[in-house]
Amino acid sequence: MEKQFPHNFLFGAATAAYQVEGATREDGRLPSIWDVFAHSPGKTFGGQTGDQACDQYHRFHDDVRLLKEFGFRSYRFSVSWSRIFPEGKGRINEKGMDYYRRLVDELLRNDIIPLVTLYHWDLPQALEGIGGWLNRDTMSYFANYAQKVVREFRGEATRFITVNEPSVAAYEGYLTGHHAPGHTDFRETITVAHHLMAGHAYASNAIRSVSQATEIGIALNLSPIYPSTKDQHEAARTYDLVSNQFFLDAACSGKYPQEVLDLYGTFFDLTFMQQADFQMMRSQTLDFLGVNYYFPTVVQKGEHPLLSDVLPPQGLLTDMGWAIAPNGLQDLLVRIHRDYPQVPIYITENGAAFPDKVIGDHVDDPRRIDYLKGHLETCLDVLSQGIDVKGYYVWSLLDNFEWAHGYSKRFGIVYVDFESMRRIPKASAYWLRDWIVAHTAREA
Ligand code: FCB
Repeated sequence: MEKQFPHNFLFGAATAAYQVEGATREDGRLPSIWDVFAHSPGKTFGGQTGDQACDQYHRFHDDVRLLKEFGFRSYRFSVSWSRIFPEGKGRINEKGMDYYRRLVDELLRNDIIPLVTLYHWDLPQALEGIGGWLNRDTMSYFANYAQKVVREFRGEATRFITVNEPSVAAYEGYLTGHHAPGHTDFRETITVAHHLMAGHAYASNAIRSVSQATEIGIALNLSPIYPSTKDQHEAARTYDLVSNQFFLDAACSGKYPQEVLDLYGTFFDLTFMQQADFQMMRSQTLDFLGVNYYFPTVVQKGEHPLLSDVLPPQGLLTDMGWAIAPNGLQDLLVRIHRDYPQVPIYITENGAAFPDKVIGDHVDDPRRIDYLKGHLETCLDVLSQGIDVKGYYVWSLLDNFEWAHGYSKRFGIVYVDFESMRRIPKASAYWLRDWIVAHTAREA
């Protein structure tokens, strides 16, 4: 018999606030670092911004209808901190909170489980003004914001992701400068990585103090690291320690790998990592690990003492130039299960960008179907090996504002015409709906 997903496997679709909501100046919202960054010359493709994005703020009913129509049982979205606390702290902005309550109500009415990301890269600009994630205080503002939002949902949303992809926020925001706030300094990168991981722990603790019934996870972007040749093993190992294990260990066992600390310690003063942070990290347990997987990475030794050189990807590529390799997901999940067997896993993002076109009223996206099929079949394989994967969220429900790439990269299973805001489900949406039904066991 063909392999099947268990009946309670959670299929969902994912988005993030700044990428889909628009309405950036409405109902009391103030700018986040992404508003400022996108509005700065030369930072995004064609100077594009999330000002309108997919206008989900005004069209969430339509989007929930799409989720329902395509059979999704869960929706992963993020809350914009700047809507709840426009200045990052202080008094709750009721109108902002009300938007998310209405969204959650609409989801629940349609039997769709909300999975709420609290921080998907959009720090309130007011906090950036006092140092942003470089400032330790941001961790407590984050914990306060997280606690208040969870409480305001009054038990209607019970699953939360504290931070989305801390390594991308740290490395793209503070080393390459491709993302907000656009800095380029390695010590800052590590400082921010630590404040995000410790911030996750402080936020988890704050949430648990007001709600025992919540499930708290974190979404890490993970990429299996392979050496370019056999003698590049060391380069692959170092890169893996810095880019994967640092975050995995922090999230799953509340500490950093000693080797990474030793490595960083030879270059930088690490006094920003305080004992209280480690205590807090160790005291928290993770209810689930969110894995965002897109592509594998091949490396060799480079000039940089802390980072190896990444080789250009080979073989089939997406429109992002990312290698298509479902076996990378397999390697990753096997490794996570080996190292942290107790942690339940959700794939919280997986998907691909292709230059989709509307022809007539249709969008044919066979390459996306292949991509999704390969990765979903991998999920079935690892499930049959006894690995506890509980759900899969496709990135993304909608074509949206792809950060520095603006609207030039289409990740949606639903096409968005950014002039009219019309949504047109792509062939992959129909395919996914039917494939999931065909590969999920009926409830006994
Ligand atoms: C991930 C981000 C998500 C989206 C996808 C393509 O790194 O979490 O917002 O941009 O990549």
